[in-house]
Amino acid sequence: AQLAAHKSAWVDTGAGLEAEIRACSRCPLHCNATQAVCGEGPQETRLMIVGEQPGDQEDLAGRPFVGPAGQLFSRVAEEAGLDRGAAYLTNAVKHFKHIPRGRRRIHQRPDAGEVEQCKWWLEAEIARAKPQLILGMGATAALALTGSGDAITRRRGRVERGVMGHNVLLTLHPSYLLRLQDENVRAKATVDFRADLALAARLAQ
Ligand code: URA
Repeated sequence: AQLAAHKSAWVDTGAGLEAEIRACSRCPLHCNATQAVCGEGPQETRLMIVGEQPGDQEDLAGRPFVGPAGQLFSRVAEEAGLDRGAAYLTNAVKHFKHIPRGRRRIHQRPDAGEVEQCKWWLEAEIARAKPQLILGMGATAALALTGSGDAITRRRGRVERGVMGHNVLLTLHPSYLLRLQDENVRAKATVDFRADLALAARLAQ
């Protein structure tokens, strides 16, 4: 890849986007991750879905959204009539950020600098996908897609204009739902999440 003269944008010089993402060392997160996790799904699509970063299981499998949050996403997507297989599913950050604690690896939220570095790849994926709608799940995706870190709970369910001019619908992150302890609060948040996924499916038709 090389920098285009007029603006910083990824240019395919033959290796392909995935190969370059796998070789990425733009920030230190690649040092402790097993591998970069690329997006999955049709490269051109009407609906692109963006999460935060790979979790423990995604880091090991090399595929996005295969762990507990991904399974919750798949279940609610099915209930909402959103076809996961027809969407391009990726993350704002491609490497798993974590700290070791005993034999466990504890997820760490990527910081604004890491999100900014990785936006290089996200923007290349968006340019290739040419989506009608981008669904951003959680605060990290929202920051990468809109430049704003404002709270998702106050922004979800509405379409915003993204940094690349695309329509961006924000929703909660499925791992946020998994963390909610109060059953009633979780049930309400799940209703909201399902409604947002149904809206995304409708808007991307
Ligand atoms: N959470 C994310 O944001 N992305 C994944 O791929 C898995 C969990």
